Amino acid sequence: MSRSPGSAAGAVCLAIDTTFDDTSVALLRGRREVLANLTLAQIAEHAEFGGIVPERASRKHLEAIYPLLDRALADARIGWEGVDYVAVSNLPGLLGSILVGMTVAKTVAWTLRRPLIGINHIEAHPYANFLVHGELPFPLMHLVAAGGHTLLIHQRDHFDWTIVGRSVDDAAGECVDKVAKMFGHPFPGGPVVDRMALEHAPGPYDFPRPMLHDGLDFSFSGLKTAMLYFLREREGQPIEAGPAVSAFFEAVMDVLVTKTLRAARRYGVKAITVSGGLAASRKLQGRFGEKAQEAGIPLYVPPPPLCTDNAAMVACLAAYRHEAGRHDGWDLEGFANLPA
Ligand code: KG4
Ligand code: ZN
Repeated sequence: MSRSPGSAAGAVCLAIDTTFDDTSVALLRGRREVLANLTLAQIAEHAEFGGIVPERASRKHLEAIYPLLDRALADARIGWEGVDYVAVSNLPGLLGSILVGMTVAKTVAWTLRRPLIGINHIEAHPYANFLVHGELPFPLMHLVAAGGHTLLIHQRDHFDWTIVGRSVDDAAGECVDKVAKMFGHPFPGGPVVDRMALEHAPGPYDFPRPMLHDGLDFSFSGLKTAMLYFLREREGQPIEAGPAVSAFFEAVMDVLVTKTLRAARRYGVKAITVSGGLAASRKLQGRFGEKAQEAGIPLYVPPPPLCTDNAAMVACLAAYRHEAGRHDGWDLEGFANLPA
């Protein structure tokens, strides 16, 4: 049986995230005590195809999840009976992959007779900040810059948030990954682009900043195309890859930082958070740090392993849900997309 509401604050959450290509499992006591946080990346499994193959991703999740659960329980030094409730990301992502995590989560919760909580993976990304920085002051503006999404989220309180800006085409991470590929780097290209941007000045190069002065939505596909033309025009000639990639990343950072600060001012928030895989970029973190300080707005960024996909952030959001008694039924469904 689930414990009484009085003990909810110290309850242990088992969280599962299989929304995309990483299989992630975490055990969290209360809101912040991480007992285990394991992620198995599938990058190598998809390398020969040059991108994520959905069917293959589902199968790899299925192979990875049980050994990962065993390891998480061993790391946390608890048995199945020590799990008080189960959380699972049920959107957005690859539906076949999400269903693997959901089936396992429902089975565990049903067998143990524990509550089940469905988590929006995107809502969970900023909770990497609550996890490491403690309670943050509402209202907040979150930039979630991940591989599949670039979103500005205005959060008034826990469970009370609105998406106020989103990419109208490619996500920033997707654009970075595609540009890295143009330079011959394997997926995911973010870490190598970050390194090149840290090591090189943009030099003579300059790339467009799509929709920079235009509202809170983002567009990155034009920037990707600009790089494609840039490379085509120079075919057969030596290109200074470092400065070119650095100039490209300047454009990405400029758009992300400018729009996030604009959103922060427009909504009069008390602080900004940045999360999602791209937030692991040291270069981007540095730029955000400078500009947020200039603007006098507190900034929170998680450490790199909590920027990229992980189940600890899912567990942290689930802890607030559990304490508030916001559980889901066995009819919880999975969704590939965010609600419109
Ligand atoms: O949040 P995430 O792990 O997965 C999604 O939910 O999509 O984000 C993945 C994205 C990819 O575009 C990847 O290239 C980028 O995050 N990324 C990075 C770094 N690590 C991952 N970008 C810049 N610097 C990094 N260190
Ligand atoms: Zn993510």
